[in-house]
Amino acid sequence: GSTVRYEAENAAITLGVAEANHAGYSGTGFVNYDSAVGSNVQWTVSTPAAGTATLRIRYANGSTTNRPMDITVNGALVADELSFTGTGAWATWQTRTLTVTLPAGTSTVRATATTAIGGPNVDYLEVQR
Ligand code: GCU
Repeated sequence: GSTVRYEAENAAITLGVAEANHAGYSGTGFVNYDSAVGSNVQWTVSTPAAGTATLRIRYANGSTTNRPMDITVNGALVADELSFTGTGAWATWQTRTLTVTLPAGTSTVRATATTAIGGPNVDYLEVQR
């Protein structure tokens, strides 16, 4: 298989900001979600053929409160309030994995905060096929 990494700081960011003040990120930084329901990052991904894919979202949550996010693929909900629990520190990164089906060609993957606390800090999305 192949794995393609899509940095959050290069994605479409709604109610969030790219920052680089916590170590350990990939690329040039990460996205700090605003403290708002609906804050989100949307990646545009490309797959040569339809099929099952593993999505891996790398994140840090230095709080002790879960920061759930809805995950959509091409606008369809694929994970409802997926948990992003505390990682122990803002510079401690973990990955959250889910399996989805992607069509051939271009797809959008969006991670949207569902609570007023906002999302975790998000480093990247990987698509493994
Ligand atoms: C801290 C931390 C940020 C984080 C924020 C939060 O301010 O430095 O990177 O995004 O907490 O609680 O969301």
